[in-house]
Amino acid sequence: PLPVILDVDTGIDDALALLLAATHPSLAVKAVTCAAGNVSLAQVVENTLGVLDVAGRDDIPVAAGAEGPLVGRPRDASHVHGANGLADITLPAHGGTPVDEHAVELLRRTLDEAVEPVTIIALAPLTNIALLLRMYPAVRPKIARIVFMGGAIGTGNVTAVAEFNVWHDPEAAAVVLDSGVPTLMYGLEPFYAATCDDTAIRALTSSAQPAARLAGRLLAYLTAGRGEEGRVRAGDAPLGDAGTVCAVIDPGALTVVAANVGVALAPGNTRGQTIVDMRHTSPGAPGTPVSTGVVTAVDTARYRDLFVGALS
Ligand code: BDR
Ligand code: CA
Repeated sequence: PLPVILDVDTGIDDALALLLAATHPSLAVKAVTCAAGNVSLAQVVENTLGVLDVAGRDDIPVAAGAEGPLVGRPRDASHVHGANGLADITLPAHGGTPVDEHAVELLRRTLDEAVEPVTIIALAPLTNIALLLRMYPAVRPKIARIVFMGGAIGTGNVTAVAEFNVWHDPEAAAVVLDSGVPTLMYGLEPFYAATCDDTAIRALTSSAQPAARLAGRLLAYLTAGRGEEGRVRAGDAPLGDAGTVCAVIDPGALTVVAANVGVALAPGNTRGQTIVDMRHTSPGAPGTPVSTGVVTAVDTARYRDLFVGALS
C-alpha cells in the first residue's frame, strides 16, 4: 500500500475522505493531522477521532495542529457542515485521544521514520503543512507529493473567486505552492464533478458496514445542495474531499495539466484566489518557476464506483 498522511478539518467531506482512506487496501494511513477550518480545532479533532473509530481504525495516530490561519482569525463553515461539522449527526462514543504532540511534530516524525517518501493528502486550510515546511525544510525529500483539495481554476465557493481552504489561509497555500515539493491541486472543478447519485447513496445507507452507513447519511445531508451554488445536480452529493483520496488511489481517472499556480494575497475581493496559468500548461523548464499539476476534469462514474465499492 501507498503510505499517506491526511491533514483534515473534519467536516462532512473530510469525514467521507477519512472513511475511504482508512479502509481502502491500497493506502496505508500513517497519521492524521488536524487544523481549524470547517469548525474549531477542538471539534475537528473530536470529529476525526469519532470517524476513525467508526471505520475501525482507532490505531491511526491523530494530532491537533493549528488553531487558526497563519494570519488573521479562524472563520468556520458550519453553515455548510452543521454546527458540529458533521451534519449534526452524533457519532457513537469512542475512547480515542489525540497524541501528545503538535500536528507539525507528528508530521515530521512520521516522515522521518518512513522508509519511502509519503504522500500528504491535504484537505484543510494548509496551515499545518506550511508550518511543517517552514520549521523542518529538511523533510521535503521524504514527501512524495502534496495532493491538496484547494483552489479553483475558475469560480470560487466562499467568494466569487476563492475556494474555502485557500481563502481561509492564503499565506499557507502560497508557502506550500512555493516550497518546491511536487503538488497536485484538486480544486473546485473536480470537487463538484465527482458525485454520488441517489442509487449510490441508498446502497451506502442500506449497507451492513457502519462506515458505509455513516457515509450514506453524510452524503444524504449534502444532497440539499448546501453552499454549492447550483454546481451539483439536484439530488446528487459531491464527494468533495473524498474525491481527492480517489485521486491518489486511482489517478488514471483524472485529467491533469502542469500549470503554475499563484495565490492572491492582497486584501480585497481577490484575496485567496488561486491564479492558474492556463496559457502555459506544459512543465516548466529548469530555472523557471515551479510548475504544479492541476486537475481539470475527473471521471465521475469511476470515482463514485470506487467510493461506494470500497465502503460497502
Ligand atoms: C473545502 O472546504 C471545506 O468546506 C471542505 O471540507 C473542503 O475541504 C471546499 O472548499
Ligand atoms: Ca476539508
